[in-house]
Parts: sequence; structure tokens; C-alpha cells
Amino acid sequence: MGRLREYWWRCVLTILLSSNSSYYCKSWALENTVVSETDDLLIRGLLESARESDFFEWLKRVRRRIHEYPELAFEEHKTSQLIRDELDSLGVEYAWPVAKTGVVATIGPGNRPFFSLRADMDALPIQELVDWEHKSKINGKMHACGHDAHTTMLLGAARLLQNTKNNLKGTVKLVFQPGEEGHAGAYHVLQEAALEGVEAIFGLHVSPEMFVGTVGSRPGPMLAGSGRFSAIVQGIGGHAAAPHKTRDPIVAASMAIVALQQIVSRETDPLEARVVSIGSIEGGQAGNVIPETVKFGGTFRFMTSESFSYLRQRIKEVIEIQAHVYHCTATVDFMEEKLRAYRPTVNDPSMYKHAKRIGDILLGENGVQLTPMSMGAEDFSFYGQKMRAAFFKIGIRNKTMDSIKDIHTPYFAIDEEALPIGAAFHAAVATTYLDSHAQIQ
Ligand SMILES: *[C@@H]1O[C@H](CO)[C@@H](O)[C@H](O)[C@H]1NC(C)=O
Ligand SMILES: *[C@@H]1O[C@H](CO)[C@@H](O)[C@H](O)[C@H]1NC(C)=O
Repeated sequence: MGRLREYWWRCVLTILLSSNSSYYCKSWALENTVVSETDDLLIRGLLESARESDFFEWLKRVRRRIHEYPELAFEEHKTSQLIRDELDSLGVEYAWPVAKTGVVATIGPGNRPFFSLRADMDALPIQELVDWEHKSKINGKMHACGHDAHTTMLLGAARLLQNTKNNLKGTVKLVFQPGEEGHAGAYHVLQEAALEGVEAIFGLHVSPEMFVGTVGSRPGPMLAGSGRFSAIVQGIGGHAAAPHKTRDPIVAASMAIVALQQIVSRETDPLEARVVSIGSIEGGQAGNVIPETVKFGGTFRFMTSESFSYLRQRIKEVIEIQAHVYHCTATVDFMEEKLRAYRPTVNDPSMYKHAKRIGDILLGENGVQLTPMSMGAEDFSFYGQKMRAAFFKIGIRNKTMDSIKDIHTPYFAIDEEALPIGAAFHAAVATTYLDSHAQIQ
């Protein structure tokens, strides 16, 4: 007891003496949020509401409509319209368009603290091969990454929060974000003013590796950053029977690709995670002709910004210099205007703890898992550069429902039982964050 009291007074003293007390007060409060029994009831109540048959049927209808009409990055017009229609019928205000097709809804009194929840809306250029009643009606496009579920969960959260808005101790901004798949929609949302003043953000991603009824994440680095590149090796073409009269770009590109493998295997600390992969190669038409050029492209993944700069520089050097060795030239394009590199997704430890505590209450002690890091990437990382952020996975795995296939495959499916869980998780994380921060504003 005595030691605890001493610790408490030391904290108070630190706060009083600190030159930046607002900062310390905030971290201190977030670390030590006491979730009372009333909060317990409130949190569980949100899940019960979302599981009521009316509510659940509505969630499924919304998700299935979005699933039937998948739209690619920055083309989410129909999806955006659906979101606005649903918000209108809930009586929720919103800003639109944000970054072309995005919608940012606002629930609460309009003053601080501001907390954000985020869902992405875009689909993938994949032909759906799951045979079910609500299969994609658009050839070659599919919600194969669960963004239809993410959007639905956030609309569910909007409904829950709107029903309890008089109790909100601050304001929730719900971000329906375009262009997650490679197009850095989050970056473009942040370029606009819609999230000014927001201090923290929470996001969810479905995971077929985790059972329905579980969620998971980890404090600190969680997902990799990701960059892309495309290279053109220029040689001099000619008859394949007279290679000495040519400058063979096929050999130069091949050697460059082999040399790129050593960046990870020979130049990277084995305890650090990096990836360099070549995913496409294109050159030549005939077996007896040496072509003028070869084009290839790939992705690189990293967990720190130092790694990003290092990999970017070395990929360029290795390709250019290897081409030179074979009397060719090469240009490397990182396509940064069109396909902005994603930052690593790093969870703020205190936000992680806050969301984990809510998960524990919602789903029980075994409901929240510590997930491993992964080299996948997410543009949610851009929010983490501006505010405290936590990103959680939410389980959709169920063998009976065959929702066990990987994301980004034509067989991807979800168990819709996850929808009310996601809606309640979002709403509860936001509500309790505002509760614990309103007192010290
Ligand atoms: C206080 O700390 C916060 C968070 O690190 C920072 O954004 C702010 O600039 C600091 N203010 C002063 C006066 O140092
Ligand atoms: C999987 O789905 C079936 C059919 O809907 C359901 O009965 C079962 O409870 C689900 N399993 C889990 C772990 O949620």
C-alpha cells in the first residue's frame, strides 16, 4: 500500500513539475483508464444491441449490397452513396467528398476530445469464385479483402453511437476511406482538413486466420511498410545467333534480379525484417531474337523508415550497376506520385492497451490474441504518423462457413457473425476513450 501511494504521489509531482503537463496527463490517463462496472455493462450492452435480430439483419443486408457491387480504388461512388444514404437515415452528419469518394461522419457534441474510427471501402481486381447468393455482380472485381465488412462494421458503429450520442463525452469522426489497395487513400484523406484536431484513431481488419469471436493485435510494429518499383533495362537487340553484336538486356536483367536477392540475405541484420521480391518480368517475343529492352518490377517491405531509405537506394544502385556490367543501361522508377510507399503500421502502446482492455470485456480473456508481426502492409499507417493509432484484426474464421481462405484470393469468404462484434468493438473503443479523456481536457 505504502509503495503504491508513494508511486501515486510521484506521478502527481511529475505532472505538476513537468513543463509539458498536458502531454503527461494524457498519457497517464490513457495508461490508467479505470474501466468501471458501469463501463463493463455499457460495453457488453453495445454488443447485445448489435446482435439483436433487427440490427444484425440490417448489418448483413448492408454488407451484401456492398459485396455485390465492388468498386476499385477512388471509384467507390456507389459504395459512398450507400454509406451516405445509411447515415442520412440514421440522422448522422457527414463531410463529403473527402479524397474523391470518402465520407467522414461526425457523432457527438462537436467539441474535444476528438476520436476517429476508420474503415476502407475499395475492392480488388479479382474475379469472385465463391458461389453464393450475393456473389459479386461486377466481372473481374471482388471484395476479397473484407473492406465490405469493414465499411459495414463502421456503419454499425455509427448506429450504436448515434443511439447513445447524448452520453458521448467528446466527438467521434468515422472515416469511410477510399483507395486502400495500393493507392494510399489514407494519405489523401489526411491531406484534407476532415481529421484536424483528432488525437487518436482505431481501425479493424478481418482475418481468416482467427476464429470468429476473437480479435488480435500487438503493441509497436505490426505490419510492414511497402514500396514498389519498376525497372527498364535498355540494351541493343539483334539476332540471337550473334550475341556479340548485341547488348543483351535479358542477361543484364537476370543478373540484376539475382543480385537484388543479396540485399536481404547479405546486407540485412538477420533479426530485422525486410523483403525484396520481383513479381513481374517482361521482355522479348521470339526465342531467336535478343530484344531491345526488358522490364521488371517488384515490391519491398520494411519495418522502419531507415530500412525504407536503405532499400530504396540499394535497389536503384544494384539494378543500374548490374545493367552497366553487361553494357546496358537501366532506369528505376519508384512510382511515388501514383503509388505512394506505405509506412510501417506501428501501434501506439497505450492505444493498444486501451483497445485490448475493451476486447477483453467484449469477448472474454481468450478473446484477445497477441498476433505476430506480418510483412503485409496497410495505409492505416499514415494515420499513425499524425495521431495515436491502434489497428486490430478481427476473426472471421469458421470452417462451417468455409471462411478459411486467404484474403486477396477468389475464394475469400467471411462469417457475418463477425459484423456485430466489429460494430460494438469500434463503438466501445471510441466511447470509453472519450470518457477517460474528457475529464482531463
Ligand atoms: C507537448 O507534448 C506534445 C506531445 O508530444 C507535443 O505535441 C507538444 O508540442 C508539446 N508541447 C510543448 C509546449 O512542448
Ligand atoms: C460457425 O458457423 C456455424 C453456422 O453458422 C455456427 O453454428 C457456429 O457457431 C460457427 N462457429 C463459430 C466458432 O462461431
